[in-house]
Amino acid sequence: MTVRVPVATTTRHYEVVVGRALLTSLSALIPSAGESERLVVVSDDNVAPLYLDTVAGGLRAASFDVSSVVIPHGEAQKTLATLETVYGALYGAGLTRRDVVVALGGGVVGDLAGFAAATFQRGVRLVQVPTSLLAMVDASVGGKTAVDYRRGKNYVGSFYQPLVVVADLDSLATLPEREVRSGWAEVVKHGLLAGGETLDLVEGGAATHERPSERLIETQVACKASVVARDEREETGERAQLNLGHTIGHAIEAATGFRRYTHGEAVALGLRATLWLSERLCGLSGADADRAQRIISAVGLPERLDDVDPEAVRSLVRRDKKADRKGVGYVLLSRFGAPAPGVRVEERLEAEVIEWLQRR
Ligand SMILES: NC(=O)c1ccc[n+]([C@@H]2O[C@H](COP(=O)([O-])OP(=O)(O)OC[C@H]3O[C@@H](n4cnc5c(N)ncnc54)[C@H](O)[C@@H]3O)[C@@H](O)[C@H]2O)c1
Ligand SMILES: [Zn+2]
Repeated sequence: MTVRVPVATTTRHYEVVVGRALLTSLSALIPSAGESERLVVVSDDNVAPLYLDTVAGGLRAASFDVSSVVIPHGEAQKTLATLETVYGALYGAGLTRRDVVVALGGGVVGDLAGFAAATFQRGVRLVQVPTSLLAMVDASVGGKTAVDYRRGKNYVGSFYQPLVVVADLDSLATLPEREVRSGWAEVVKHGLLAGGETLDLVEGGAATHERPSERLIETQVACKASVVARDEREETGERAQLNLGHTIGHAIEAATGFRRYTHGEAVALGLRATLWLSERLCGLSGADADRAQRIISAVGLPERLDDVDPEAVRSLVRRDKKADRKGVGYVLLSRFGAPAPGVRVEERLEAEVIEWLQRR
């Protein structure tokens, strides 16, 4: 069954369409598609061989002029240099502002193609077609687009909402196990932030070691959509909650050259550190912290941080986009469902938690 989750932001109202066999019929799902003639599909070299022909074929059958650009996969490609390759393809295709960029892939493609669409000619239309679990439940929803700059994770980017997000659950069938686990990291994050039944659902799903159920994915999309609707541009603090685990997670990704850990794995380590800090600084109970650590383990996400200079992680934490001159405001948890944003963590404790993460 196809489910449509509305996302109502100040800049655009759109839908996340979650269902099966959607890739062939993309043209029918793009609002006011008739006004556009050209589409450029951006994908990566893992996803393109699997789905590009299906997507492009369906769009051509609907009389679109379709071209594509395929970038190498992986976070290390989320750079200005790759962005320039994508601009080249948009320019080469003669894209106009009425035309459409289709981001077909995981969060890396979504963030990068999204930023290309946001900036090319000051903004062309964008359709997100997430194919990884992580991109379906998190990255494709809400309009954050970016590339990394040097060791600055997501340092160059913008808020730019798509026309529609089309999540075809069938595409998860080819997603490698490691990437399924990575997606679970954001699923667990949403569960910790929501608490209650949502966390129970996440915990139940985590225990099965399988791909999340349709229901779980839909719930997650709805959670993300409601946060984004309340605070599109991270202004009131509500959306900032979604950075749970990301302050240390992003620093770990950067400290390891965006290559050793997937984003989800780094976030899982960041979540573990967040739970440790929450117990010490925000009154999260030991039993709850242990329960959450067990959920992360049940999914098969990393237990510890291997072989990284702790000082490198700490100096990158200070470069976090949420940092000001006084330091970083961490998102911690006082209970499940009760995030505490903007918590300052003393340097000594920051060093201690990274050390704990390395020897646990
Ligand atoms: N914009 C946001 O709000 C937001 C939120 C969360 C994460 N992110 C970003 O998302 C990125 C992580 O996303 P990701 O985990 O999807 O990474 P990814 O895009 O690198 O995809 C993971 C891997 O799976 C492959 N893949 C994707 N779909 C596949 C499929 N259906 N079959 C086979 N292989 C497939 C990709 O080629 C890649 O190798 C990070 O850069 C992160 O910063 C953004
Ligand atoms: Zn994330």
